[in-house]
Amino acid sequence: MLITIDNVLTAEELAQGRQLLAEAQWASGLITAGPQAAVAKNNLQLPEGCPQLIALRQLVLGALNRNAMFFTAALPLKILPPFFNCYSGDTNHYGYHTDNAMRLLPDGSGYVRADVSATLFFSEPDEYEGGLLTIEDTFGAHGLKLKAGSMVVYPSSSIHQVAPVTSGQRLACFMFIQSMVRDPGQRRTLYDMDMALLDLREQYGETGPVVRLTGIYHNLLRRWADS
Ligand code: NI
Repeated sequence: MLITIDNVLTAEELAQGRQLLAEAQWASGLITAGPQAAVAKNNLQLPEGCPQLIALRQLVLGALNRNAMFFTAALPLKILPPFFNCYSGDTNHYGYHTDNAMRLLPDGSGYVRADVSATLFFSEPDEYEGGLLTIEDTFGAHGLKLKAGSMVVYPSSSIHQVAPVTSGQRLACFMFIQSMVRDPGQRRTLYDMDMALLDLREQYGETGPVVRLTGIYHNLLRRWADS
């Protein structure tokens, strides 16, 4: 399941984020890559300890916390502190790879299981050539290049790549989320049901059947969710 969410960031947050990214010192993207990913990964990333990182992470996590669509799509239990990357010049691509299942927290205090990955775009599509994020799922490959401030949410188990950026600069934030619902099929069912309930509520209001179906949604969540 691949879900795009527009306007995750307000215009002010986007401008503030871009300002912080412009001031930051980038490092090699290999700092968070496992051995297999390291072969394919050739980009830049903000290193831990980078002075702008705390403010950037607060900005993104604040935006995620208020976003109902993100909540229903990911059902987040734990979010690894977001990372930021830059593709340009000679460091311009990340070939096909899968994300590591277990990610160590930056402070070393434990692991987050990556169930759901997300990419939040900070550059506008016309600011760079190439740089398509391609995600393979059971329905084939999907190439994405979203507006700045928009985000795509997809299963961490998918194979994906960022194609070479041939001109300009592509700035983005990438995230790993441990979901309350580990199984992607169960997560998908809950998402589809929640979206259908939203439509029903809009069309018919809180009728008896809508209330009962909402109860079923929550009963499924109770059966399937870990906390
Ligand atoms: Ni990845």
